[in-house]
Amino acid sequence: MLKLNFKPFFSTIPNKFKIPIVSFSIKNSLQSQPPTVRQNVSLNNLPTTTTTTTTSHLLSHSPPPTSAYIHLPFCRKRCHYCDFTIVALGTSSNQFKDEDDPRITNYVQLLCREIKATKPISNDNPPLETIFFGGGTPSLVPPKLVSSIINMLKDKFGVCSNAEISIEMDPGTFDDVKMKELLELGVNRVSLGVQAFQEDMLKKCGRAHGLREVHEAIEIVKSCGLENWSLDLISSLPHQTREMWEESLELTIQASPTHVSVYDLQVEQGTKFGSLYTPGEFPLPSDTQSAEFYKMASKTLGNAGYEHYEISSYCKEGYMCKHNVTYWQNRSFYAFGLGSASFLGGVRFSRPKKMKEYTGYVQDLENGLVLDKQGNGLVDANDKAIDVVMLSLRTATGLNLRSFGESFGSSLISTLCKAFKPYVDSGHVIALDVRRNSLSADEFSTLLFDEGKIEEMVAFIRLSDPDGFLLSNDLISSAFAAIAP
Ligand SMILES: C[S@@+](CC[C@H](N)C(=O)[O-])C[C@H]1O[C@@H](n2cnc3c(N)ncnc32)[C@H](O)[C@@H]1O
Repeated sequence: MLKLNFKPFFSTIPNKFKIPIVSFSIKNSLQSQPPTVRQNVSLNNLPTTTTTTTTSHLLSHSPPPTSAYIHLPFCRKRCHYCDFTIVALGTSSNQFKDEDDPRITNYVQLLCREIKATKPISNDNPPLETIFFGGGTPSLVPPKLVSSIINMLKDKFGVCSNAEISIEMDPGTFDDVKMKELLELGVNRVSLGVQAFQEDMLKKCGRAHGLREVHEAIEIVKSCGLENWSLDLISSLPHQTREMWEESLELTIQASPTHVSVYDLQVEQGTKFGSLYTPGEFPLPSDTQSAEFYKMASKTLGNAGYEHYEISSYCKEGYMCKHNVTYWQNRSFYAFGLGSASFLGGVRFSRPKKMKEYTGYVQDLENGLVLDKQGNGLVDANDKAIDVVMLSLRTATGLNLRSFGESFGSSLISTLCKAFKPYVDSGHVIALDVRRNSLSADEFSTLLFDEGKIEEMVAFIRLSDPDGFLLSNDLISSAFAAIAP
């Protein structure tokens, strides 16, 4: 079984585009500009439009962005599993008030300059509906600086009055005063990085906080009256037992967040875990044990009333993360800040990951020296089809074949359905009619002989939960091979 990447792939698209099975267009855009993704961009070498525009069949439909990702890279220290773009401040800096840390103030000024110098994609660009402050540890940034970023976004793009404004927060980096200040600014969703509920496990992960801070943080978020909050957990950690994982899931349910993200540990090269451990080998769990952890999460959270709406995401009714839904629907979004990646007009563009180069990038942007990093909306149809399949199959809704056929041609519907037949037979893929009733494997097989009937009868394709989700690498690869043989 291929190991799935449950790392927060989509919630971190802007600063990390690491994918187990990479869609060709995404993969091409990354491979054609290696410095942007894995290393740093030289200012003379800034990538611009990278989407293939030379193929005969091009699509030009790309609605304007209504989402913005903001990267706030500061952390007290680097966790042992983490290879995100961060700046480690050191553990001695003031616990709750980093007001005067020039590294933070200077960065936020630079970020605001980037926002200011960015051209809205069109004159009648709609106001932002979601803003996501990701990190790093955004909760280390003083609220007055967060406020200056929100104000800059308001001036530049407009922000809807009911916009979802999310912020990632780490236990031990905020108190109730800071929390209330953030809420007053319009922040209305928190993503709390807990990872594990065992003191020893937090230490092994190199977290800058212990279990006491975890419980305090949960208490602060809840006592401030915030309902829309998420709790992040990591499964398959070194020495993690079934009992520990069960305990983490139970304590999560007791904390009653309205959203939970469960990520399977990705052992990254260059991290402490990367130097200590080999995936699948003790003290890391085997692939079978990891799959078991995944199934436990799906079952336990499902029984507690959480909908498993995306491979790594669970929510109570009405509490999906609207910002992340943008990614899964392959919609465009702005991104600002060190190492962040935007998706505009069909182009994914990664900013430099080193502060010096990012500073140069912003200066060049202000001086009009950066070539337009927004595409013209013309994208290769096969590339886009593959992205749409890959992204939508990560969700419980699955792929809407009607709109897929409208965008890419109805012949691709039967191509995909034929590729999925073995998986419909095995129960890993579910075919649904327009009312979302599932079709039996026999019904589905019969339809495959008649293209017109497939289009009429099969409205959605989705992966089963948890077995289909667990096989999603294989399933999505089959879809790729069928679309672009
Ligand atoms: C951008 S990080 C949040 C950073 C934040 N400072 C924190 O530690 O919670 C979002 C989430 O990614 C997950 N994550 C980060 N690195 C990971 C890895 N190597 N494998 C699996 N999950 C990872 C963690 O659950 C983390 O909460």
